[in-house]
Amino acid sequence: MTFKQDAKKNFPEWPIYDNNEMNALVNVIKSGNWWCGFPGDHQGENVWRFQEEFARFQEAKHCITVCNGTVAIESVLMALNIGIGDEVIVSDYTFVASASAVIATNAVPIFCDINPDTLVMDVNKIESLITDRTKAIIPVHLGGNPVELDKLKEIAADNDLFIIEDCAHGHGSRYKGKRVGNWGDAGTFSFQASKVITSGEGGAIICNSDDLADKIYSYIDCGRIKNGYSYAHYSYGTNYRLGELHAALLRKQLEKFSEQHKLRNKNAQYFGNKLNEIDGIQVMKLTPGTEECGYYVYPIVFNPKKFGMITKEEFYQKLNGNGIPTVDNYPPLHKLDCFKNVKLRKGIDYSSANWGGERSVDNNFPVVSDIYSRSIEFPHEILLASKNKLDSVVEYITSLK
Ligand SMILES: Cc1ncc(COP(=O)(O)O)c(C=O)c1O
Repeated sequence: MTFKQDAKKNFPEWPIYDNNEMNALVNVIKSGNWWCGFPGDHQGENVWRFQEEFARFQEAKHCITVCNGTVAIESVLMALNIGIGDEVIVSDYTFVASASAVIATNAVPIFCDINPDTLVMDVNKIESLITDRTKAIIPVHLGGNPVELDKLKEIAADNDLFIIEDCAHGHGSRYKGKRVGNWGDAGTFSFQASKVITSGEGGAIICNSDDLADKIYSYIDCGRIKNGYSYAHYSYGTNYRLGELHAALLRKQLEKFSEQHKLRNKNAQYFGNKLNEIDGIQVMKLTPGTEECGYYVYPIVFNPKKFGMITKEEFYQKLNGNGIPTVDNYPPLHKLDCFKNVKLRKGIDYSSANWGGERSVDNNFPVVSDIYSRSIEFPHEILLASKNKLDSVVEYITSLK
């Protein structure tokens, strides 16, 4: 069976909204309070309330909202005093932001290869990347799939390293009893348009240390301190605050999230079992110990030999051409021009990096290079479709053999 129509008509469209989102926005506009103000002098209430609600949802002590997920990572790095001369280990399989946030602080990202089954950072490869300059690790929970956080925590403790979890895909993911974002020093989130909780743009940081939360707040609000005089600036900071309109939308999206999250988890299991029955298809395997997954994307790896040597481009174009929304995955970081050609920050020495020029060859990142060449992903909204629709996707993929 093929769909043959516009993919948007076949599957739930994202974002999902109703009058609750509309009314929330109108209420902010009418209130005249379009920004949040300061901790001691609130103008609007949505940012402060959303911070509490998201912290509660993610089971963290603190939440600080920011204007996107990229600066969320940068803000934590800055608050942890990571910068020039430091190295930070990042998964090679992620959106550029996980590494560009490190570049923004003038530190050097070091790329780590992935586990071929779970598609996230292979924690067994981390120790070989640690040098006396290493200060932190940024595990990325790709597709919401948690990195092996208990092992990672041991490695970080043994080597005196910070952990900043990039949870841009991990809203609601739970590993061994604990929500992601709480395993290390801080967790960062994105609310960009395609994310499972969205306000078009937006981000948040969760953490459980009062001291770190204060430092992060200060950085994202111009070096102010909580409840201090608004024209007193105590340290270097910038303005990465979230606006009231975005926070009002996020509060309504968060209300919708739990039900969607449950459906995605249920459908992912159903869809995954069926897809895995196709000889030559392997879906992203959840890291053992995963209790809930954010499923921002749903990657599948195919064996070209079982599909007439189809390329990944042909694979996702065929699916899209038949009304099944499918996208390419992130090119591994070592393949990106900015890291191959080292077109980065003036005056920073990147010679200790494990990428750039000859070092960026695929042979140095064998697992991710192989996986990238034969994988595609479905957007999360496909997991909100009916079982019949998911069956039809399985049927269509089977017909490509
Ligand atoms: C893994 C990862 N980290 C960070 C980000 C950055 O988030 P934002 O687009 O909100 O800056 C993204 C966004 O797609 C992402 O996928």
